[in-house]
This record gives sequence, C-alpha cells and structure tokens, in this order.
Amino acid sequence: MSDAVRRFELAAWELAPGQYAAGFGRATAAFVPALLAAGGVGAGMRVLDLCCGLGMVAASAQALGAEVDGVDFSPAMLAAARRAVPGAVFRQGDAAALPLADGCRDVVLVNFGVHHVPEPVQVLREVRRVLVPGGRAAFTVWAAPARNQAWRLLFDAIRRHGVPGTGNAPSPQGGLSEPGQCVDLLVRAGFAAVEAEVVEARWEVADAAALVAAFRTGTARMAALIGAQSGGQMQMVVQDMQDAAAEFRDGAGLSVPIAAVVARGVVAL
Ligand SMILES: C[S@@+](CC[C@H](N)C(=O)[O-])C[C@H]1O[C@@H](n2cnc3c(N)ncnc32)[C@H](O)[C@@H]1O
Repeated sequence: MSDAVRRFELAAWELAPGQYAAGFGRATAAFVPALLAAGGVGAGMRVLDLCCGLGMVAASAQALGAEVDGVDFSPAMLAAARRAVPGAVFRQGDAAALPLADGCRDVVLVNFGVHHVPEPVQVLREVRRVLVPGGRAAFTVWAAPARNQAWRLLFDAIRRHGVPGTGNAPSPQGGLSEPGQCVDLLVRAGFAAVEAEVVEARWEVADAAALVAAFRTGTARMAALIGAQSGGQMQMVVQDMQDAAAEFRDGAGLSVPIAAVVARGVVAL
C-alpha cells in the first residue's frame, strides 16, 4: 500500500506546478502565517520547508530573515520552487527518509504535506531526527469538511449529482483532520510541548468553476475524485456548487471559509 500511495501522489504532483500558484496554492498560502508563528520562525534560524511544493513557506520564512531550504519528492515542483525562491536550496527527497544529517535544523515546517504520505508518524520521526534539541516542528492539515466549506460544497454536490467515493486513489493510513489526531501523531513521534488548534481563513475565488479547477489541478485525491465523474455529472456539480455558494458571494466573486489544523511540537532538551 505504501508504494501505491507514493506512486499515486508523485504522479499527481508532477502535473501540478503550472496551475498551483494561481489555483490551490491560494488556499494553502492562507495558512502560511499561522504555520510560521507555530514554528516560532525568526531571523538567523535554519528552517526546512518540507513537502515544499513551490516553496511558499520557504519564501515567507526567508522574508523573516531565516536561512531556508526545502525538500519535496516531485522534480516538477522543485524546478518551480527553484525559480520562485532563487535564494534557497531545494533538494529532492522523500519526507519519510530525509536527505539531511541529524540535528541540523532549528525549525521544520510542513504545510499540507503530512497527510499525503503513507505513514505520517514516520515523517514526524524524521522531522524530529533532523531537528536540534529544543527545535520546533509545525505542520498543517485540512480540517474536516464540516468546517471546510470549499470541501463541503464539492463533496455535497458530488453526492447529489455524481458518484462519491470513486477515483481509484489509494488511501493513506487513516484520516488526519482533527487537532486530537495531530497531537497524537506528534506524541507518537516523540515530540514534547505538543499543541494543535483549528485556524480559519477565506479562499477568494471567481466562482464554483474556478474552485473545481483549483481542486482538479492542485490536489491528488480530490483531483482523482473529480476525474472519475462524467462531463455531464461535473456540469451539474459545478452548477450545484455555484447555487450553494450564494451565501459566500463577495462582490463579483466568492469568499469561501476554509479551515486547517495547525499543530506543533518541540524536541525535548
Ligand atoms: C498540497 S502540496 C503542499 C505544497 C506546499 N507545502 C504548499 O503549502 O502549497 C503537497 C506537497 O507534498 C509533496 N509530497 C507528497 N508526498 C511526499 C513525500 N512522500 N515526500 C516528499 N514530498 C511529498 C508533493 O510533491 C507536494 O509538493
């Protein structure tokens, strides 16, 4: 199963960079400030952006005066990150086996990466290995659809007009969308002073079609679910989402509430 997840994820992320920054990356970017704060990032710290994608977290940490680098397993994402953040080093590597020495970073940040790997606890053990004593880890995962309106709009519409639960995506081990699950994971990985909370933000998009396009071009499992629906079903899904999103209209576009769990832990001294 682990290899199947990795292959499925890598194939998806290799296709993502072209559309990511203007699409799904606008949703992940909304949580970068909370992630930097959870990691206590400051000037002069050695900060790793893990599962870095286009390096948005690295760029923001660099702007705070940190020494940054990034790791991701997707060559296409890394090529885009190198163009976007020229001052940082981006390495190819698997989050479960980092190409880094023990105790070489002060902070490791993972923005929406931990839930994409076959064994999240193994990734957090690796994160702990590369941190100095007293070093901090922080990560984000999406909160459950009940709190995450963009996800709820899509899932509800597919339930009404399409075929839910399709898409042939291998599932990683268990969902990860509640603060308690994130705390448990960090504790199992050996972190101290563990905390997790739900943070809310808004995702500004033109309309429901743009929302669906962002999910289709900037995610792995959601893209597979959308890809498994017929063209006719997706037309009805988009129209349903547009109607249901009326309460989120803001000027000419939509301002959709989204939410993430922001979790953190410290390596005991
Ligand atoms: C949702 S994107 C998040 C990207 C970025 N952190 C952001 O905030 O937008 C997930 C990223 O995790 C990477 N990824 C997924 N599984 C990975 C693994 N096992 N090892 C390293 N990177 C992985 C993907 O290539 C992708 O860039």
